Amino acid sequence: MKQQLENIRTQALAELAAAATPADLEELRVKWLGKKGELTAVLKMMGKLTAEERPVMGQLANAVRAEIEQTLEARKTAIHSAVLEAKLASEAVDVTIPGNAVTLGHQHPMNMVLDQIKEIFVGLGYQVVDGPEVELASYNFTRLNIEEGHPSRDRSDTFYFTDDDSVLLRTQTSPMQIRFMENNKPPLCMLAPGRVFRKDEADATHSPMFHQIEGLVVDEHITMGDLKGALVAIMKKIYGEDSVMRFRPHHFPFTEPSCEMDMQCHKCHGTGEVDGAVCSTCHGEGWIELLGAGMVHPEVLRGCGIDPDKYSGFAFGMGLERMAMGRMRINDLRLIFDNDVRFLNQF
Ligand code: PHE
Repeated sequence: MKQQLENIRTQALAELAAAATPADLEELRVKWLGKKGELTAVLKMMGKLTAEERPVMGQLANAVRAEIEQTLEARKTAIHSAVLEAKLASEAVDVTIPGNAVTLGHQHPMNMVLDQIKEIFVGLGYQVVDGPEVELASYNFTRLNIEEGHPSRDRSDTFYFTDDDSVLLRTQTSPMQIRFMENNKPPLCMLAPGRVFRKDEADATHSPMFHQIEGLVVDEHITMGDLKGALVAIMKKIYGEDSVMRFRPHHFPFTEPSCEMDMQCHKCHGTGEVDGAVCSTCHGEGWIELLGAGMVHPEVLRGCGIDPDKYSGFAFGMGLERMAMGRMRINDLRLIFDNDVRFLNQF
């Protein structure tokens, strides 16, 4: 019997040492320590021993059992940590591998110019406001002194929504003059940037949708001198102190007198020529048209409940794309709306 117990010990310990998985271990536990296991089978034969032999064998059997149990526990711990380690190794994340770069966009060049313009005007005390793109013809035309039958009211020039031509996509930001004067009394100082729409074919300098920035100042004693002073100061801030401007007489039904303002071409410096060829920026004109402006017509003031004998004002409307083209040296207006990232990434 002693030999049997020794054999059990040797064999069980060897098998436990070779076990590789928790399932192997469980199998061995049942095999060696289970109720129908080898050790139990030997213990069952204890009854056949003599009284002197029994305690000696009992002790030995207990020692063998204890040793197998201890070895089993030790193997369990070892296998468990081996399994865990293998799992950790297989699931490891290499945090040093470079990630996928996120491409960050940036502001659109036109909005960069718009923000810059707004900032300058806000610094001068202008209030920036927003208004509807779907507008009433009365605001877009009639109350701006543009009478029925005026060519700009033609269906070939304007997008109308209704058969009676009373609702349209605004063709200019000037209706914001009316909307602002209706709700605010002088002194007032307004800037209204926004989209406008005209039935134009798109080419290098035209688009059926573009942006204007409307300005309006009304107070006592406002003169054409204020208009010129304000616009020249603003343009110098945008285009640089050395930029040269000129005013030309013009006609708008809602301003009197009216003018347009040009900036001397920054490329040919007004000569219209670059290296003996026609300047591509101003097409040989020497000047680039920037805006329309004028003194607010007395009828327009009166229509908004402002007394033209007491108050006067000036208004201007500039094309934002034009401003951006000049500022950013863009030579085709359509590029501004194409949203080709190869173009946009240059700014
Ligand atoms: N609304 C005019 C245009 O679109 C520009 C303008 C605005 C002229 C304000 C005078 C005063 O051409």
